[in-house]
Parts: sequence; structure tokens; C-alpha cells
Amino acid sequence: PETEIRKGLAGVVADTTAISKVNPETNSLMYRGYPVQELAEKCTFEEVAYLLWHGELPTGEQLEAFQNFERSQRHLDAGTRRVIDELPLSAHPMDVVRTAVSVIGAVDETLTDSASMIDADLNMQRSLTLMAKLPAIVAYDQRRRRDLELVEPRDDLSYSANFLHMTFGEVPDLVVVSAFDVSMILYAEHSFNASTFTARVITSTLSDLYSAVTGAIGALKGPLHGGANEAVMHVLEEVGTADRAEAWLETALAEKRKIMGFGHRVYKNGDSRVPTMKAALETLVAKFDRPDMMELYDALEMAMTSRKNIKPNLDYPSGPAYNLIGFDTDMFTPLFVASRVTGWTAHIMEQAAANALIRPLAAYSGVEERHIS
Ligand code: CMC
Repeated sequence: PETEIRKGLAGVVADTTAISKVNPETNSLMYRGYPVQELAEKCTFEEVAYLLWHGELPTGEQLEAFQNFERSQRHLDAGTRRVIDELPLSAHPMDVVRTAVSVIGAVDETLTDSASMIDADLNMQRSLTLMAKLPAIVAYDQRRRRDLELVEPRDDLSYSANFLHMTFGEVPDLVVVSAFDVSMILYAEHSFNASTFTARVITSTLSDLYSAVTGAIGALKGPLHGGANEAVMHVLEEVGTADRAEAWLETALAEKRKIMGFGHRVYKNGDSRVPTMKAALETLVAKFDRPDMMELYDALEMAMTSRKNIKPNLDYPSGPAYNLIGFDTDMFTPLFVASRVTGWTAHIMEQAAANALIRPLAAYSGVEERHIS
């Protein structure tokens, strides 16, 4: 019988995972059993990172120890900074963050042999260290592009407050910190998406965590995946104003363009993270008095729903939210990296703990056997 080929591995169940459950029928996403909306409402990003890695929410004492370590690792070391400084200001921030993670891996002295590369305790420590350092990398890159000095981390601030402080040189209003923290929680984990699967493939060869994260960053960069939050902003800027949304969409669809921020491989009836992120966006719109942004957002969503019945995904509300917070558009996907590194590393550790080399087959479609005459 002819081999069935599932292009893009669509619908293929590749392994089990205990980290998150995506249920398209009920339009839900759960991290370790908790609905993501509930986590976004009641927890901090630090608590969610702990949950993803350890399987349970932390007790007060566990959280304190976790936060103390995270806060002690926020510094951008001189070596990584020097490498970033060598990169042109025109480098895409995703290339900068990919390079920086690679450098952190290259100088990790605990990577001594093949056993230490996949050691569970060391990997847990490396995961938390990467989570702690990514804000410094992203913030520094944003600042150097604006010709501003590096801001040192503050260990009296939460993850999100410190991230924004290091980026903008001040701690913004609580509304802004909360909206940002919600986005970090919602982006943290999403089962076997392309970048996470990439990380698992790399880990399955018994390679190290930094190599897996570096590869995952490469996968996330593409506009069909994480690059969409950046692309959404370009779309909204192209549309311009709410009254132009319908006509713009008509032309874009006629040109067979994919509308960024809409559609999903798994959710065909709406992305469960969108209402929570949209509510966070609305708080930012109110804070910065930008009703025009919300009108534009609603107009394009309405046009897309009535024209194609394709619903927004998380990148649709998070793009304009990051814009209102003040990030450059091409910094949006690195923000996704800072969050998703928690999910990636949870999967890296899960893969390493019960490993099987990931190595599928291909049906050959080239020329039949031939010989050099
Ligand atoms: N704009 C226009 N048409 C679309 C879109 C879209 N955004 N999404 C799906 N369609 C159409 C698609 O062209 C196809 O039409 P037809 O049957 O006439 O060829 C139909 O809907 C079914 O789509 P599909 O190609 O089977 O969907 P897929 O599962 O291969 O693609 C997707 C999923 C996310 C790649 C796609 O929806 C897309 O390109 N969206 C825009 C990029 C985007 O927002 N990506 C973020 C994904 S979610 C968060 C993340 O990972 O970062």
C-alpha cells in the first residue's frame, strides 16, 4: 500500500508530553493541568516558569529560593556583551538573541562531557539562568539601537518589572507591567509547536540545552511562527485606520496574502489565549489613550472573520500591545523567545529524561537508480 504522507506532520502525534495540553475541541490550553487564562490572572511569570519546569506551582519558600537565584543571574556578562557589540545595529534582534544564547553555551564550563551535557540538575540550573539573562540581552539590544547605555538589572524587581526597567530605564506603571507579564505567561508554552519540536529534535541526539535553544530560536524567527507578532504590527501599520480595513483585506486576499496574526494549525475555532491578551491590550489602550489602535484591531478582526471566518491567534493582540509598551517592532519576536525559553527547556528536560532519537523517514521522489556510463 502507498505510504501515507502527512505534509508538515499535520495531525501526527509524535510523542507524549506532561507539560501542556492543547485541546482544539474545547478551545483550551492547559499548563500542567491549569487553564492558561487562570494562570495569567492569578500567577506571575516566575510562578508559571516554576510550574512548567517542576510540574507544580511553588510554595512560598520554593518561590523565594527560585526568585533569589533568578535575580542573581540577571547580569549580562562582559563576554556576551562584547559579542553583541560586534554585531551591526542592522542585525535582526532575533539573530542577536540567537547569537547571545550560543555564546552563553560556549562559555558554560559545566559542559565538560557527554553526561554533563544532559545532566538533569545542571539543565534545570541552565534553564533558569537563560530565563534570567534573556531580558538583559533583549533590553541591551533595544537600547544600543537607540544609542542608549546598558541599564543594570535590579534585584528588587519582579521579572517583568526588571525587564521593562532594563529596556526603558524606568519602571513603568503597574498596568504596563501586568500586561507584559500576562503576555509572558501566555507565550510560555504550547506543546509540540515548530520551535519546541526543533528543540526536542536537537536534544534527541543528546546534544546540549544551549544548542537546542539556539535551534529553537531559529525556528521561531519565521513569520509562520513567532515572527507573526512582528508581522502583525506591519499589517496594522499598512492598513492605517479602521475605515480602511475592509478594502485593505479585499486587496490582500486577492493577492493571496496570508494575513498575519490569523489562523492556527491546531485551533480552527479560535485561540484560547486571545481573550486574555486582548483584555491586557485594552488596559494599555486605555492607559496610553489610543482608542484608534483598538478600533483598527477590531475592524480588521471583523473583516477577517466575516470574509474568511479565520480567527486571530495570540500574535494578533500581543503585537499592538508590545507597540504600545514602546518596543521597536522587530524586538517583538525576541520577547516571545524570552518567554518561550521556559517551555522549550521544559521540553528539552522531558525529552532527555525519556529519550529516543527523532529520525523520521522520507518517501524518495527523485530519479530512479541510474549509473555513470
Ligand atoms: N490569512 C489568509 N488565509 C489563511 C490564513 C491567514 N492568516 N490562515 C489560513 N488561511 C487559509 C489558507 O490559505 C487555507 O486556505 P485554502 O484552503 O483556500 O488554501 C485555509 O485557510 C486553511 O489553512 P491552512 O493553510 O491549512 O492552515 P495551516 O494549518 O497550514 O496554517 C498558519 C496555519 C498559522 C501557518 C496559517 O494560519 C498562517 O499562515 N497564519 C498567518 C501567520 C501567523 O499568524 N502565524 C502565527 C501562528 S500562531 C502563534 C505562533 O506560533 O506564533
